[in-house]
Amino acid sequence: MKASDTKATLSFSNGGQSVELPIYKGTMGPEVIDIRKLYAQTGMFTYDPGFMSTASCESAITYIDGDKGELLYRGYPIEQLATNCDFLETCHLLLYGELPNEGEKTAFTKLVTNHTMVNEQMQFFLRGFRRDAHPMAIMTGLVGALSAFYHDSTDINNPKHREIAAIRLIAKMPTLVAMAYKYTIGQPYMYPKNDLSYAGNFLHMMFATPCEEYKVSPVLERALDRIFILHADHEQNASTSTVRLCGSSGTNPFAAIAAGVACLWGPAHGGANEAALNMLYDIQKAGGVDKIGEFIKQVKDKSSNVKLMGFGHRVYKNYDPRAKLMQETCREVLGELGLENDPLFKLAMALEKIALEDEYFVSRKLYPNVDFYSGIVQRAIGIPVPLFTAIFALARTVGWIAQLNEMIGDPEYKIGRPRQLFEGSPKRDVQPLAKR
Ligand code: ACO
Repeated sequence: MKASDTKATLSFSNGGQSVELPIYKGTMGPEVIDIRKLYAQTGMFTYDPGFMSTASCESAITYIDGDKGELLYRGYPIEQLATNCDFLETCHLLLYGELPNEGEKTAFTKLVTNHTMVNEQMQFFLRGFRRDAHPMAIMTGLVGALSAFYHDSTDINNPKHREIAAIRLIAKMPTLVAMAYKYTIGQPYMYPKNDLSYAGNFLHMMFATPCEEYKVSPVLERALDRIFILHADHEQNASTSTVRLCGSSGTNPFAAIAAGVACLWGPAHGGANEAALNMLYDIQKAGGVDKIGEFIKQVKDKSSNVKLMGFGHRVYKNYDPRAKLMQETCREVLGELGLENDPLFKLAMALEKIALEDEYFVSRKLYPNVDFYSGIVQRAIGIPVPLFTAIFALARTVGWIAQLNEMIGDPEYKIGRPRQLFEGSPKRDVQPLAKR
């Protein structure tokens, strides 16, 4: 952390002694005011629910400039990574800080593919779930349960354990998601095929059956790989912060990532692509493009509690760069499958156009986020809607584990323990039951 020459001074209108606070500069982005000693110096906490102005850590992994609509992994623009690299190269970049050269790529791919199978015993654990359980309920359980199967990589303070847990998680997530899917439809699990690419192997485990040959479509494989790259990391979002907070207690990596999966499930976060597609279905059922005006009216009426799902973002106040790439992939996939006239895609484009011209959305800087189009792509690939968030979890696992390992390796790291402004009853005495 580089200290700035400028310092902040906090003064009080009641004449209390003012305090000087150091300021630190990052390589890019807003500077931060260091308030760590504030409580010791003033007896006061800061108040920032939702972390609107609070940096919870130092990080060198992902940078977002929300006003410019820019997303960088380790300094590289997402557009360049999505067009020039594959997901495993992106994983290498996020985990180790650099894109791999040819030899490193081969070695990393081999390392990951060595770990794609899961302990055979896990299928019996999976069997305990109802067949109609939501895949995210299953994933929360399965990922947490990995710690029961891989005892040799659960010590978060051991760098070797952290590294092997990272590789295991990246390698096994596709296997677990595909198993959760096969379980719900009653088909046999397909074992991983290590001669396929990461995305190709996932398509195979999802859609192949033992009865016939399954040929991976290169366009769908590339589309899925792009979905993985676009979702791989997103700095200190809710699920990543959950993973960091959970891991800060020293719990094992599998348990920390399971906490991230649980957080991601919510419709304001990873559940948004599922919610966005369901919203498009609802508008389509109600009459399609002709009903957009009515729907937008509902969205603008605060008492309706209706949101335009797949729109808006805490950080991006300009177009989400991932949404542009996703829209491009959407066209490619629908073209490959002969679905250019897909009514949901047409509806999404019309809805986006109308929303982007509407004063309500313009004044609040609400733009489509990555989830607005990713649901349409996934549906076209054949992925059922309830599985969308599980795919997001699969892709985000590398970001979670890279951020977790960065935190554990940071000498400044401490158990996360926010404070509160207490608004409850002052101290009082318990009355005997008859007197209450
Ligand atoms: N539809 C309608 N109005 C919206 C939307 C939306 N999708 N998003 C924000 N607004 C409005 C809010 O009502 C608020 O209006 P007000 O100022 O009149 O009260 C204003 O825009 C600011 O919104 P906040 O909720 O304060 O913004 P915040 O940063 O807290 O929320 C969030 C961001 C949660 C993503 C929100 O935009 C949202 O719920 N969007 C829909 C869900 C979604 O797509 N989530 C995916 C996020 S991306 C991801 O996880 C990969």
